Amino acid sequence: MNTAVDTTGTATGVTPLTYHSGFGNHFATQALPGALPQGRNSPQRCPYGLYAEQFSGTAFTAPRHANRRSWLYRIRPAALHGTFQRLEAGLFTSRFDETPASPNRLRWDPAPIPREPTDFIAGVHTVAGSGSPETQTGCGIHWYVANRSMRGRFFYDADGELLIVPQQGRLRLATELGVIEVQPQEIALIPRGLRFCVELLDDAVRGYLCENFGAPLRLPELGPIGSNGLANPRDFQTPAAWYEDREGEFELVAKFAGQLWSAPIDHSPLDVVAWHGNNAPYKYDLRRFNTIGSISYDHPDPSIFVVLQSLSDTPGVAALDFVIFPPRWLAMQDTFRPPWFHRNIASEFMGLIHGVYDAKAEGFAPGGASLHNCMSAHGPDAATFAKAARADTSQPLHVTDTMAFMFETRTLIRPTRFALETRQLQRDYDRCWQGLRSNFDPQRIEAIPR
Ligand SMILES: [Fe+2]
Repeated sequence: MNTAVDTTGTATGVTPLTYHSGFGNHFATQALPGALPQGRNSPQRCPYGLYAEQFSGTAFTAPRHANRRSWLYRIRPAALHGTFQRLEAGLFTSRFDETPASPNRLRWDPAPIPREPTDFIAGVHTVAGSGSPETQTGCGIHWYVANRSMRGRFFYDADGELLIVPQQGRLRLATELGVIEVQPQEIALIPRGLRFCVELLDDAVRGYLCENFGAPLRLPELGPIGSNGLANPRDFQTPAAWYEDREGEFELVAKFAGQLWSAPIDHSPLDVVAWHGNNAPYKYDLRRFNTIGSISYDHPDPSIFVVLQSLSDTPGVAALDFVIFPPRWLAMQDTFRPPWFHRNIASEFMGLIHGVYDAKAEGFAPGGASLHNCMSAHGPDAATFAKAARADTSQPLHVTDTMAFMFETRTLIRPTRFALETRQLQRDYDRCWQGLRSNFDPQRIEAIPR
């Protein structure tokens, strides 16, 4: 663990944002001088009359390398709010039993930006998921659309940490532990239970959300890659302490056991003046990813594209992988260069943030999504296969203008009823493979693709 170093980010807000560099570090930060108690976590009286509060992200007794907790020094304890009432069930859920699990391959067009005023929480549509928040296994997969900032209300998710993947428009995430600004091709992570408010820095926003019910996401092991590569730890940015001391008639919305709940709160819960620890939000620019691939032949397994993963109880098997397909050079010779045809024990939910995905030239638009469940056969479409099978592989190919991602799980991903009934579902997705004809000719060993 390292000592945090302050780096000043480029903010579009009134004041420049300050971030600490590093993944999973034990940070120490204060918005007022001397606000952070020294030498102990819970002094009899905290500086400035603040309350001390522990914020745990793992079991108290989790092994040291996996343990996540922070100490918060705040104007009022988080306990100070009214009684929660259940909100009417909407489209932000953890109901993954609404439809029969299906081996069908599914693909969706981008979600439309709503016309009526919609803030970030109102604009979350649950598309698919696995497991359950109650057993702390699996994940919820959502897309979000919004055209206004959250006003007078704050949110926390007790069901899981939130991986936010913007596809259109910039967000300002004002959290208890500081402010993060995030734009397409960056991601942000909000720890389970952290209270925050989403403001829009553009007129309309759209993106994806992965709600991880399981173990917190972490960097993958690198094995023979060595001590550098993939997502490098110093490129992760955690905000410095920031607070607001604001009273009013506000609402605290919680997601708990798959339901949304609302409680009155008479002040902003974003009142943490100082904090230290490693259970904290962060952002990461996907364009910083150090992409690794073959420099001889064959396309390596997509595990080389893992940015973050949530470990399961089985060694080597992630419960959830966040994977990206960024711009890169393809140098493999005498090789079919796009991702190969395959069937996978894992289940794959893909999205496209920017540009074109190199295995699907058509039909997979930025903001769209696809789902290929366990053992559902997939791979390049017919047009992409024909082009790649004829390509000159004596020269390297620079794949540019792209940023696709995948939420990959060890468990089946079930679409919600909304996902199967929405107009965005492409009813003819299977057809993208129908042009793949037999090239087999027992008289010719030298294959010629049609
Ligand atoms: Fe796949």
